[in-house]
Amino acid sequence: MTCFPLLFSKSSSSARHDPEIDEGIHNVKLYAYKQLRNATEKFSPANKIGEGGFGSVYKGRLKDGKVAAIKVLSAESRQGVKEFLTEINVISEIEHENLVKLYGCCVEKNNRILVYNYLENNSLSQTLLGGGHNSLYFDWGTRCKICIGVARGLAYLHEEVRPHIVHRDIKASNILLDKDLTPKISDFGLAKLIPANMTHVSTRVAGTLGYLAPEYAIGGKLTRKADIYSFGVLLAEIISGRCNINSRLPIEEQFLLERVCMSHILHRIGVSFTSINSYSQFCLFNLHLF
Ligand SMILES: Nc1ncnc2c1ncn2[C@@H]1O[C@H](COP(=O)(O)OP(=O)(O)OP(=O)(O)O)[C@@H](O)[C@H]1O
Ligand SMILES: [Mg+2]
Repeated sequence: MTCFPLLFSKSSSSARHDPEIDEGIHNVKLYAYKQLRNATEKFSPANKIGEGGFGSVYKGRLKDGKVAAIKVLSAESRQGVKEFLTEINVISEIEHENLVKLYGCCVEKNNRILVYNYLENNSLSQTLLGGGHNSLYFDWGTRCKICIGVARGLAYLHEEVRPHIVHRDIKASNILLDKDLTPKISDFGLAKLIPANMTHVSTRVAGTLGYLAPEYAIGGKLTRKADIYSFGVLLAEIISGRCNINSRLPIEEQFLLERVCMSHILHRIGVSFTSINSYSQFCLFNLHLF
């Protein structure tokens, strides 16, 4: 694992002018709204590379020549300056080869914008699980490297960062790939940016259906184990090359975890998967056994 020391240099920026921002900022590079607007050609739709629960993401070239992913937080995910900067200070101090680097942010007027290192090869959900609409090939060595990289990034958040960070939304679209297919976990620390009255993407708790640990989904109990559960789902996706939920498949094949559990049980009782030709048959078979 390559871990870089935390950086604590004060950054200077012409964008800093508000006393509240001056007070709240420690190690974060502040970008002027104008600078980010120029970088994205006025947030042109042609430069938009994605959209998620937090807002839209644009590709842009910064003044210093760096290419960045510029995430414009939506109105609902905007917090007060103080709360926003508290979280951003924490995120921007974190550096690890398997975590997406936050370059800085913009907090002008109502705008809350995050500026990240741009990853050339998109996310796992659009490549490995994207249904073959890309030219990348994931052999076992590459898949293994991705699994280990994600594990390292997660272990860093859980064990090296003080206080530790629970990601709360480990999933394929939050695993980005650089030009060498090194995986980088994105959006860590962002769950805390969600104001209490805002529900995230698809669930009451921060997280995504299909990846949620039962104790977190049902009782809201949040520990690092919730991330480990989601990581397990992600591993099953990486190994099988399919999404954990696919409603276009026949009902008995839609849920990957169900398939994994089923084959595990069959393996333990010494029955080959192919000898049982449907899930319903398996359930009947199961009723007789237990
Ligand atoms: N640093 C980055 N480099 C390259 N592409 C990025 C980067 N960050 C985000 N993207 C692209 O933008 C898309 C949207 O990202 P975003 O994090 O906003 O939503 P999401 O992860 O897909 O979903 P959700 O908000 O539900 O977690 C990603 O799937 C990815 O394709
Ligand atoms: Mg994301």
